[in-house]
Amino acid sequence: MVDNCFLFSYHSIKICIAVIVVKRNSSAEYILTYLKANGGSYISGQDLSARLGISRAAVSKQVGKLRLAGYRISSATNRGYSLVGEPDRLDSKLLEAQNITCLTLTESTNREAKRLAEKGLPGFNCIAAEEQSEGRGRLGRDWFSPPGSGLWFSILLKPDTVTPAEAAPITLVTAAVIADYFNQTLKLPVKIKWPNDLLVNEKKLGGILTELKGEPDHIDYLIIGIGLNISQNTEDFPPGLRGKVTSLFIESGALQNRTSLLLQLRDRLFKAYQLFFQEGFKPFSAQWKKHSSTLGRKVTVRLAGQTVSGKAEDITEQGALILTDNNGAKKIINYGEII
Ligand code: BTN
Repeated sequence: MVDNCFLFSYHSIKICIAVIVVKRNSSAEYILTYLKANGGSYISGQDLSARLGISRAAVSKQVGKLRLAGYRISSATNRGYSLVGEPDRLDSKLLEAQNITCLTLTESTNREAKRLAEKGLPGFNCIAAEEQSEGRGRLGRDWFSPPGSGLWFSILLKPDTVTPAEAAPITLVTAAVIADYFNQTLKLPVKIKWPNDLLVNEKKLGGILTELKGEPDHIDYLIIGIGLNISQNTEDFPPGLRGKVTSLFIESGALQNRTSLLLQLRDRLFKAYQLFFQEGFKPFSAQWKKHSSTLGRKVTVRLAGQTVSGKAEDITEQGALILTDNNGAKKIINYGEII
């Protein structure tokens, strides 16, 4: 499903300057020094609060800042905090050498990809960022994209052999390729919730935001934005997301190298898109169905202000959901969200 068709009028170009998240000599910096000096052992919140002369709530807030900056800090009741890992950074040199544009900070890689597309960057290009300040999800939602813990990237395509309608299933192709990769290589049971949510144990591991500029018979460009949670702990997510989202680390207990993961995924996706532009969704349909968590279930889909409930039977060759509603009528749903 393509999420957004847009026309451009950028009145201002914002220049993103990497901000130093943890200011020197801030309370967070002192906490980090103590945690490092403690060599991975726990140091209590009370101890930190006494040393810094701040409340325990303030300690917890500063620890939150350090986590946002990519430090892996474990917390345990009655024990306090321990530093378990330094920020992992994308290897921008390696990525650039492999033709991936790698930014330290951008508003949104989709937005960046649009700018580059307008400037003439050809298709089959990938733009990644360590951090997004205004990461966007489907349906106008925010996408939490701190540094050091996830993969936030967009793929730019400029196909001239398919129409926007024919390109619609590209999001499902993307979801199928990613789910298949994690199932095969990491033995992680990643499932796809129609159309394109990536879930593990019913929690969101990642999502895809596809945007398109074109006319009914022509595509100027397509941007496929992919967000994947990789190394976060539960407490690294904002409280409102906890319980709804997950990461590869939470699910597998293993830390993955984000740089090599990105390279692997980019290569697989490029190969898949080449096949998709030649043969359509058909070669990917079985793969998508195999990893689907939607088919065969009773679902409620929200679309354009209304909801439809029924059993999710199948998907069409365009990636639309075939649903038998509660009155036994067959419905084909091209766009919507399962709630
Ligand atoms: C969703 O499930 O709602 C889609 C999330 C898509 C997030 C990615 S992160 C990289 C790219 N840039 C964005 O601003 N959004 C997408």
